[in-house]
Amino acid sequence: MATEQDNLLKKVIAHAKEYGFIFPSSEIYDGLSAVYDYGQNGVELKNNIKEYWWKFMTQLHDNIVGIDAAIFMHPTIWKASGHVDAFNDPMIDNKDSKKRYRADVLVEDAIAKTEEKIDKEVEKAAKRFGESFDRAMFLKTNVRVLEYQKKMDEANDRLKNAMTNNDMAALKQLIIDLEINDPVSGTKNWTEVRQFNLMFSTEMGSIADDANKIYLRPETAQGIFVNFLNVQKTGRMKIPFGIAQIGKAFRNEIVARQFIFRMREFEQMEMQFFIKPGTEMEWYEHWKQARMNWHQALGLGYDNYRFHDHLNLAHYANAACDIQFRFPMGFKELEGIHSRTDFDLKSHEKYSGKKLQYFDSESNQSYVPFVVETSVGLDRMFLSILSNSYKEEKISTAAGEEGNERVVLSVPPALAPYKMAVLPLVKKDGLDEKAKSVLEQLKTKFRCYYEEKDTIGRRYRRMDAIGTPYCITIDHETFNDQSVTVRDRDTMKQERVLISELVEKYSHICSINGLLERASTNYWLSKK
Ligand code: GAP
Repeated sequence: MATEQDNLLKKVIAHAKEYGFIFPSSEIYDGLSAVYDYGQNGVELKNNIKEYWWKFMTQLHDNIVGIDAAIFMHPTIWKASGHVDAFNDPMIDNKDSKKRYRADVLVEDAIAKTEEKIDKEVEKAAKRFGESFDRAMFLKTNVRVLEYQKKMDEANDRLKNAMTNNDMAALKQLIIDLEINDPVSGTKNWTEVRQFNLMFSTEMGSIADDANKIYLRPETAQGIFVNFLNVQKTGRMKIPFGIAQIGKAFRNEIVARQFIFRMREFEQMEMQFFIKPGTEMEWYEHWKQARMNWHQALGLGYDNYRFHDHLNLAHYANAACDIQFRFPMGFKELEGIHSRTDFDLKSHEKYSGKKLQYFDSESNQSYVPFVVETSVGLDRMFLSILSNSYKEEKISTAAGEEGNERVVLSVPPALAPYKMAVLPLVKKDGLDEKAKSVLEQLKTKFRCYYEEKDTIGRRYRRMDAIGTPYCITIDHETFNDQSVTVRDRDTMKQERVLISELVEKYSHICSINGLLERASTNYWLSKK
């Protein structure tokens, strides 16, 4: 049976297509699995998210600069980074449904279900005990909760060991012991677990052979590592400093589902922060907080984010966590924050034979810097915003709006594809010409939509559906007092505003600068 969450995701997917946000790739050829195209509104929202991230990194931090490295890179880079040997996911098939799964994700989902049971127990008890409920005490003493917790800890330990030791038989045994059923066939008829490398490869040049094999980058980070000295020297950068990049990455995901959450071609916004060895835990904590601030400043809901420590550390990390978001499918990874040690730079030194060291003029020493990385998926950011903003609302007759329900995307105004819609009440009596002159005054400041067809109510509905924060209606009164009606997308309230005051009144709320101001204060910490 479809859950409410499944339904929400389906509605978001349908809405994204209907309103020009996201189309399935190659749709007229029946699509290409886990590949999507961004439409006319999607690309605007996506570009605004990029701008918010880019400016946060390179404008709010005077010690972070950006680059744009090529997608194709020397194939030895992927040997040095460990991706050729270790960028694998364990896969398992169900013999009845013929469906393929990531074995570790099956286990993680089973663990998450147990965690949900704990949450339910807590919720029930909180209702029962009311004000006097002591959550911490309940978690420590309730027998059922302790049993669930023990089961979770054991499963986590076994998963960690199996992954660290590359022990696929142990992983299969864990799936059997946890009695995991295939969600499609409902059976436990599983194949063995096998490792599968996620990198796409192709050939460079006209001869297709192994010597010309190159990879499509599975992360943007390596473009930063191999340019570390170029940037440091030409930019006269002093440690600590960061290099930021936004770009495409490619992974041949075993299970690519859940819309743009897990794609085979996607975009990452990554920043490597180069630091003195020994200071990594301090910087790791710093970036955890800074990144959480950036997310929280969007105002999508304080409780919709949480940190999740990695139990299975990647081959390059000595500490790692995710910022998870409450997607329609539950809490899932949105961003990763990783303390990558000096693994990558040292490995590139070894494979390239070139020194990748920083000379510290204060201590008169050279060293290979350590790195703390922040890595957020642009498409996942897009999905978090889209799914959180999608709302179906009943309209009360008192609102004076057409119809009795609406779909509205309450995206943060600064990220909305259009900031304003300029609408003549009717296309006569010179109202359309007046509206066009208002549009001329506004369009260098805001991205505006102009529409003159249909009733004003229907035009409001269309603007709600693409998340336009303000609709500006030009009516007969405008000729008398040079004012317009401004309708607020979220409250549907209307007010008269002088044309000459529009820019000043709405600039801040519609600009990325407003978001940056919130992200640069310790907004998240102040809410804790
Ligand atoms: N350089 C580190 C790195 O790539 P990761 O945790 O594998 O770390 C970072 O990826 C982020 O990239 C994830 O938190 C997620 O937002 C995004 N991401 C990873 N795989 C993805 C996929 N197949 N589709 C969409 N986004 C993905």
